[in-house]
Amino acid sequence: MKNNKSIEAKFITSAADYRKCPPPTKAEFAFIGRSNVGKSSLINMLVGNKNLAKTSQVPGKTQLINHFEVNKKWYLVDLPGYGFAKAPKSERDKWGTMIGNYLVNRPNLVCVFVLIDVRHEPQKVDLEFLDFLGEKDVPFCLVFTKADKVSPGAAEKNMEAFKQTMLLSWTKIPQCFLTSSDKKIGREDLLEAIEELNLSFGK
Ligand code: GTP
Ligand code: MG
Repeated sequence: MKNNKSIEAKFITSAADYRKCPPPTKAEFAFIGRSNVGKSSLINMLVGNKNLAKTSQVPGKTQLINHFEVNKKWYLVDLPGYGFAKAPKSERDKWGTMIGNYLVNRPNLVCVFVLIDVRHEPQKVDLEFLDFLGEKDVPFCLVFTKADKVSPGAAEKNMEAFKQTMLLSWTKIPQCFLTSSDKKIGREDLLEAIEELNLSFGK
């Protein structure tokens, strides 16, 4: 697949339970992060279709596990966000169970892309989520979002601060990407990383 060629992506299912997701026969890449960080927008930017995943200015738009099939070969998965302060505890617990089970039990999940808003200093809720992934041995990369909203210097500073904070409890920093869905920054790098990871699937 050449990354500048058009990508064919289609919606497959929305599920509240990993057991209702499509058969785990294709490599799968999931996008997760705080509510409103830009997960659905990033998926749309990657596949070049603004209307594929539903986006909103209001946090909490994506509520289920949404599978999109790309080039008939792999899945992109849009997940609901965490850390939405206004959500009641019962909702947050439901999220934890649904997403935790999905992340731990999906055998074809090759990599989780954890989205971090590059405008902010390191946030506890993101670091705690990474700890969860670490405990469960779920492979992940970091995707810093909304690069168009800050200067390149500020983006660099915040990414560096995040990495330094991670190094307080991690020995290694995963692969990191800086992106903007609005300005299509980081698209090629992410698609290349997915292409590479695809090669390892099933080997
Ligand atoms: P939930 O599904 O609610 O968890 O949110 P999400 O993480 O899927 O975020 P979504 O893609 O719906 O985007 C949230 C808001 O941020 C929307 O208003 C988007 O237009 C905006 N947004 C997303 N990515 C970018 C970006 O790269 N730059 C800018 N300026 N705005 C962005
Ligand atoms: Mg969303």
